[in-house]
Amino acid sequence: MLQIGIVQEGPDEARVAATPATVRTLLELGYAVAVEAGAGSRASYPDEAYREAGAQIVTADDAWASAIVLKIAAPTDAEITRLSDGATIVGLLSPALRPDLVEGLAQRRITAISLDAVPRISRAQSMDVLSSMANIAGYRAVVEAAHEFGRFFTGQVTAAGKVPPAKVLVAGAGVAGLAAIGAASSLGAIVRATDPRPEVADQVSSIGGTYLAVDVEVEKSTDGYAKATSADYDRRAAEIYTEQAAEVDIIVTTALIPGRAAPRLITASDVALMKPGSVIVDMAAAQGGNVEGSVAGERVVTDNGVVILGYTDLASRLATQASQLYGTNVANLIALLTPGKDGLLTIDFDDVVQRAVTVVRDGEITWPPPPVQVAVAPAASTPPPAPAIAAEKKPMGVGRKAGLIAAGVVALFLVNLFAPAPLPQHFTVLMLSVVIGFYVIGKVHHALHTPLMSVTNAISGVIVVGAMLQITDANPLVQALAAIAVLVASINIFGGFAVTRRMLAMFTLGNSAKGGRK
Ligand code: NAI
Repeated sequence: MLQIGIVQEGPDEARVAATPATVRTLLELGYAVAVEAGAGSRASYPDEAYREAGAQIVTADDAWASAIVLKIAAPTDAEITRLSDGATIVGLLSPALRPDLVEGLAQRRITAISLDAVPRISRAQSMDVLSSMANIAGYRAVVEAAHEFGRFFTGQVTAAGKVPPAKVLVAGAGVAGLAAIGAASSLGAIVRATDPRPEVADQVSSIGGTYLAVDVEVEKSTDGYAKATSADYDRRAAEIYTEQAAEVDIIVTTALIPGRAAPRLITASDVALMKPGSVIVDMAAAQGGNVEGSVAGERVVTDNGVVILGYTDLASRLATQASQLYGTNVANLIALLTPGKDGLLTIDFDDVVQRAVTVVRDGEITWPPPPVQVAVAPAASTPPPAPAIAAEKKPMGVGRKAGLIAAGVVALFLVNLFAPAPLPQHFTVLMLSVVIGFYVIGKVHHALHTPLMSVTNAISGVIVVGAMLQITDANPLVQALAAIAVLVASINIFGGFAVTRRMLAMFTLGNSAKGGRK
């Protein structure tokens, strides 16, 4: 059984890599857990709570001597020397940006795992700390803006006068951007958002924002991340930002293209157009900034009274929540690395997730890993599934339509002419119901097709009525068949209603989420 150590972070970091709840998960995986005294205090997790969860409270040296050390910020050189030989360290190592750190870690016979290298694939979502931290940071960006802003976000009509709602612009609708849109719209603001990926438009509107489209073709994303935008796009987007800057009260920028400096979206002249008291939160300040004049980690006030926040520790400012989500992400990773639940860590390099996060293995640099294809949209080279989409998009020609209608009328006429009664009557009813059904269902939104179909299941109620009339028959075979018919048709009806209820509950949840969390 190996020991996991939870160590105290540096002075700029209030989060902690495990909470009492996640300590319990680690214990269930067969590990012993040692927490450095005071490690969780800034995130409101006292030593006593860890002790109650089953951890031991130890000195810094004992925690660092553990076989596995869990951290948030990358270790300093001094901290690397505190690790035991053969130990494994887990944290946010940013190996792509910090080759020096990777070299430093490889000086020791240790294994280093970087949680920020988790690929964005569905199987790894439960370990995706970048997303869980960006979600928190996006929310906190709005809270920071609200704190600086001298007015309500929501509009109000009071005895003392009418208050207009605040207008918020969110640039970049990725994880952080969507969290910011959700938070600002739940505070009652009018929220607008930009993003070069038009596929986010629905997500923006589903959480209360309005998507501002830039009418310029962009290269399609093959991995869920934006590609660098064209000069044409940037020119049109710049016009939108200038228009918006003159109008909105708050701007939150979250634009990021992986592996590049943050794109510059808001210029100094845009900032100069903003009203005094307006607030900008530049979440990308650490990557060079989306806003001209923002300074990483600082609060800047411009000559025209606009506050620009470049805080880089937004997730740490919500330390209790962030530690809980980070701790859960880490515990999920440790569970993946402990297939036997026996307190023994094994790293399987055939698994893309385990391969991707391992930066150093037993003192040997294993970064960068082979690329992981994160295909959320079809790759450019993949031939489009043409027939279905093309058929759907291309409306039927008038001649063809008229021909089909004429053929249908002739068929109906022939059936009426030759078929014995009562077939023509039934056939006509069937045809009419097909036409009516087609137009009715065609007008119902796709998302509501399942509830609609399950409700129409209730039509099989007629089977129940028929079977109940037969159930008193003298023949036991008829009775048995009638009973089976009642049972099966009832399952169909009640099952249909149960499905409808579940679907509608999802819509209700979606709406209440709009009023609460993202
Ligand atoms: P993400 O990759 O999910 O989202 C970035 C979004 O920016 C994407 O939707 C992308 O399409 C969009 N984008 C790219 N180029 C753009 C352009 N020219 N105009 C408008 N939008 C553009 O990234 P995530 O996880 O949401 O992070 C967003 C930013 O927030 C990153 O820079 C990240 O480092 C930062 N961040 C900052 C924190 C802080 O404390 N300040 C904490 C967590 C994240």
